[in-house]
Amino acid sequence: MELNKDINQFDIPLAKRTYLNNKYSTLLKKLLIFSPFLFLIFSIAALRFIKIIKLEPLNNLKFQVERNHDGRILGHLPYNETPKEKLVLIEPNIAVHIDMRDSLLEMREEAKKDGIYLVFLSGYRSINLQNDIFYSLKSIRNQEAADRARVSAPPGYSEHSTGFAIDIGDASQRETDFEIDFENTNAFRWLIKNAAKFHFKLSFNKDNKYIDYEPWHWRYEGSIEALKVFESSNRKL
Ligand code: DAL
Ligand code: ZN
Repeated sequence: MELNKDINQFDIPLAKRTYLNNKYSTLLKKLLIFSPFLFLIFSIAALRFIKIIKLEPLNNLKFQVERNHDGRILGHLPYNETPKEKLVLIEPNIAVHIDMRDSLLEMREEAKKDGIYLVFLSGYRSINLQNDIFYSLKSIRNQEAADRARVSAPPGYSEHSTGFAIDIGDASQRETDFEIDFENTNAFRWLIKNAAKFHFKLSFNKDNKYIDYEPWHWRYEGSIEALKVFESSNRKL
């Protein structure tokens, strides 16, 4: 009896008991209920973040390796010399790949119908000829290789050796042959509008970092062989 009295002495009277039944406790309860889901969401987000952080440098490295191993020299991709049996003459001194002959001549005829006279200036060039062009002009002009490569490809790196490249001029403005000013001729305007119909594409446009703009230099992409040859060049790196 004496003991009970002592216990009662420490007990809190019922009326005085308080419960954490306010808005914070409700929030806490909700948090506890949703905590597994929240944990899951945060874990997924964290894992994704870690993955991105880890992969980013690797992706950059892969990109860099691809850029450095596409075989470019001074901005020019390597090209094989087309075998002689695949070449045909379109002018007494100009040969091109047999795949592109018909399309090229057809393009010239179509232009003629519009009063535009295209002149073919240079087609297939052997690696030997490209060697002479690159090294002789380089020394004549007292230029370093990188400067020379802005206007002429090193031997083994010219689209002309594939037979799928053609330099075009305007018969009524020959002073613009191989000049940037060719872009102001009717022939160039006609080509920009119509060349794609014949599967021709401008190779060196104004945004090329290493090679100067060449409005006269077009390449043919109208056969599987041609597309294979220019696959690396067309791949956006
Ligand atoms: N002029 C272009 C770049 C060539 O030599 O192939
Ligand atoms: Zn050219």
